[in-house]
Amino acid sequence: MRSKPSKVGIVGAGHVGAEVAYALVLLRICDQVILFDRTLSKAQAEAWDIEDAIPLLSEMDLLPSDQYEELADSDVIVITVGAAADKGEDRLALLGRNADIIRSVIEELDRVAPNAMIILVSNPVDVLTRIAIETSSRPENLILGSGTVLDTARLKYQLGKQLNVSKQDIYVYVIGEHGNSEFIVWSSASIGLIPLAEFLILGETTLENFKHDYVEFTRQRGYSISERKGYTSYGVATVVTQLIEAILRDEKQIFTVSVKADAKYDIGSEVVLGLPCVIGQQGIERKLVLPRNIEEQRSLLASATKLNDAFNSLGELNQDQ
Ligand SMILES: NC(=O)c1ccc[n+]([C@@H]2O[C@H](COP(=O)([O-])OP(=O)(O)OC[C@H]3O[C@@H](n4cnc5c(N)ncnc54)[C@H](O)[C@@H]3O)[C@@H](O)[C@H]2O)c1
Repeated sequence: MRSKPSKVGIVGAGHVGAEVAYALVLLRICDQVILFDRTLSKAQAEAWDIEDAIPLLSEMDLLPSDQYEELADSDVIVITVGAAADKGEDRLALLGRNADIIRSVIEELDRVAPNAMIILVSNPVDVLTRIAIETSSRPENLILGSGTVLDTARLKYQLGKQLNVSKQDIYVYVIGEHGNSEFIVWSSASIGLIPLAEFLILGETTLENFKHDYVEFTRQRGYSISERKGYTSYGVATVVTQLIEAILRDEKQIFTVSVKADAKYDIGSEVVLGLPCVIGQQGIERKLVLPRNIEEQRSLLASATKLNDAFNSLGELNQDQ
């Protein structure tokens, strides 16, 4: 007996949403995609354009919609609605604009697809994921943000090029806020099973300079792309596609997604930020606790404090209105 066809919903048919739909088609990750936008013509234009590729690939349904009901029975729903940051603008500046949109989208999704796994992509992704968790009645393991998966991918790619090693053999995580306070957990970084510091041949530079350059690169890469083309889409869309694949195929892969921090991190139990988790059919199947040195714990606390402040500022914003 054939199992139920896999269905993915995408809320927001902008640059990121359309790119996610295209990547799902190219990589043949699921059987059906619903591309939803409040502006139907936008969803139609993107879906019809992508649809032209389907006869050249494999059979798949891609339907544009502006009706939430069409998202019923989705296995996974990706949220990419809302404003993107202006050139050089901190992602947290988007919070006021996007928080209300996310609350209303989650309420609709709870109504039509209460059992679907939700992946938040809209920025600021960590705070919006916290809002989604607090708004939704679905279990917490069914909501995650794309977190620092993209930042970790960017770092691994650059390190791999410089060290002349396959990125598959680079073990390192960027954690914390998807934004300016994110940081690299160097203390556990390794190339194969060799600690990074022992693998490096530094030449002219020092270990501190090497690390500093990569932290800057990782934090700035999104801005560098947006400054030149106005938005980012291919990297994040591929990240989302990998997360969807891990869920649909129960892969139990580790990704640094936006989740409520495990108590063992000692940064409070409410803050949501990018931390390594096992992702499978049940969504967040296990939150992992990454060893950190004192400096890294300080960075994690700084990131958590920044995100808590941003979340709390929303309450003040509402009181002022
Ligand atoms: N987390 C990440 O790594 C990452 C990376 C890139 C972009 N982003 C974020 O993704 C979001 C989308 O970026 P984009 O470039 O695709 O923006 P975009 O402006 O191109 O697309 C947004 C889409 O959302 C739709 N929309 C807005 N409000 C809606 C609502 N209430 N209901 C339904 N649809 C609605 C708009 O019509 C538009 O089509 C932004 O917040 C951006 O910052 C996140």
